[in-house]
Amino acid sequence: MKRAVYPGSFDPITYGHIDIIKRAAEIFDCVEVSVLNNIGKTPLFSIDERVSIIKEVTKDIPNVTVGSFDGLLVDYCMKNNARTIIRGLRMITDFEYELPLAQTNRKLCENVDTVFLATSLEYAYLSSSTVKEAASFGGDISKFVPPFIADMIYKKYGTGSEERINEQ
Ligand code: PNS
Repeated sequence: MKRAVYPGSFDPITYGHIDIIKRAAEIFDCVEVSVLNNIGKTPLFSIDERVSIIKEVTKDIPNVTVGSFDGLLVDYCMKNNARTIIRGLRMITDFEYELPLAQTNRKLCENVDTVFLATSLEYAYLSSSTVKEAASFGGDISKFVPPFIADMIYKKYGTGSEERINEQ
């Protein structure tokens, strides 16, 4: 059984992440989407919120599970019997960040490899940070995240119009 872990902050999960999850789920027998519990950052959504959001968006994909982790990613992979880390690559700057991360992980634990999936072109520009920034000013984020997540983001910021939320 080929198990993979798709780690990230997912604050919030976007259509770009969801696309990677669906494609990874077609390649691996089981994909665990795992949210980093990063105590050094102040996220918009708590760990529990992010886990339940991801459970909702992946509920129809039978071989996807959702969890969270802290500490080293490779330790989490070994504990979960996963030998593969999935990461999405949107552009060359992602690669510059991801390659040393993958190489460091491999030095830390030679049993765990990283597989990169090229982000689909329609989501190549998309990031959780820009979604949050747009939403914080009341911008339309309906092309970036599913409607119920957009609703939750607007509520956090106290922005967005009820009409727009209802239209989604
Ligand atoms: O969505 P992100 O924030 O780009 O995800 C980054 C993530 C979670 C993949 C990375 O920060 C991570 O793996 N953190 C856990 C600590 C760790 O194992 N770091 C790599 C070796 S130093």
